[in-house]
Amino acid sequence: MKIVILTGAGISAESGLGTFRDKGGLWTQYDLNEVATPEGFGRNPQLVTDFYNARRANCAGAQPNAAHNALARLETALPGQVTLITQNVDDLHQRAGSRNVIQMHGALMSALCASCGHRWPAPPVMAVKDCCPACGQPRARPDVVWFGEIPYHMEAIAEAVETCTHFAAIGTSGQVYPAAGLAAEARRNGAQCTELNLEPSEISRVFQTCRYGPASQVVPEWVDSLLD
Ligand code: APR
Repeated sequence: MKIVILTGAGISAESGLGTFRDKGGLWTQYDLNEVATPEGFGRNPQLVTDFYNARRANCAGAQPNAAHNALARLETALPGQVTLITQNVDDLHQRAGSRNVIQMHGALMSALCASCGHRWPAPPVMAVKDCCPACGQPRARPDVVWFGEIPYHMEAIAEAVETCTHFAAIGTSGQVYPAAGLAAEARRNGAQCTELNLEPSEISRVFQTCRYGPASQVVPEWVDSLLD
């Protein structure tokens, strides 16, 4: 068995980290063009820096839930057979003990130099003119992938999806590409595809099996069924 799991904001919802497109979600409170695009950062770097500082503080105050823990348990039970691709920029998978994690949209806990590309652990509160510890330029930015930018690690992701026998999507609305296209790709390669979500997503038709309910409930059940 080679298992690839794609997670989205829904897996962290029960840890108190808001999703994006649900009722009261982040994109109903903020204009994503202002806070999640390179152009928005260029126009108002303070607004964007404050937005990610607030998300970093929320994340630091949150704990992994039963769904994160179940995926870590699966990886421990099947060493070398589980790849966890996440769209989430929180670090709850790693804090739950998952090791083989690919953060395709970046990481809140990391800072990036827009000048030389150097990365370093983000301080709890970043400032607009923070300097890069490598090149000294005051060009620090949150190490997250904004709309219009290319996600990270796409080659490793393509390889994992190409060779997996099982693919699962957890807590994602299936509205943002290229992540939303991975399930269809895995299905084309013959994988057994499962959707685990609160409700049907935009791409539910792609999956052979669907399990609906809160992640903290359906993910441990699914993991148990795999391990059984
Ligand atoms: N358990 C399971 N699923 C849940 C739960 C829960 N407790 N709460 C919400 N969900 C589901 C919703 O039904 C929805 O389908 O999680 C999904 C969240 O969807 P989005 O808010 O669109 O988040 P996501 O799919 O991760 O967004 C993708 O878009 O905004 C960008 O870069 C950002 O990575 C993000 C990407």
